[in-house]
Amino acid sequence: MTKILVINGPNLNMLGVREPQLYGDRSYKALVKGIKATARTLGVSVKCVQSNEEGKIVTCIQRALGKYDAIVINPGAYTHTSIAILDALKAVSIPTWEVHLTDVDSREEFRKISYVSLIAKKRITGKGFDGYYQAIKEIAETKSL
Ligand code: DQA
Repeated sequence: MTKILVINGPNLNMLGVREPQLYGDRSYKALVKGIKATARTLGVSVKCVQSNEEGKIVTCIQRALGKYDAIVINPGAYTHTSIAILDALKAVSIPTWEVHLTDVDSREEFRKISYVSLIAKKRITGKGFDGYYQAIKEIAETKSL
């Protein structure tokens, strides 16, 4: 069974509270519920983690080596700043899907930079929760990851 690690970065635990006009009114808990339901339907296993700390995300990626077949990551604001997260993804070479709830490229200039996109196999932006579900589906349907 394909094993997927879903990582959400800083402030994504605040979904439903933070800027609902941008990120919607549903909670992080609802997101996890939706991801798990999608995984169940597709017959893949999924583990969801969220951290507000860059180092914890780096360690989490390192520990994924040999345990997960693919990573889905929304690094939040670390998308635009973190070479450490990019390097961790490079170090483990686990196929990675980058997801953003909003269309980051149509927002502020600084959001157009994404270090993770340098390693990501696929980037899904602006589709809200559906972006995560799409990533899970694409991974489930990929024959050789
Ligand atoms: C985000 C976009 C980032 O720019 C922002 O810092 C986030 C969320 C998104 O999902 O649209 O925290 O990654």
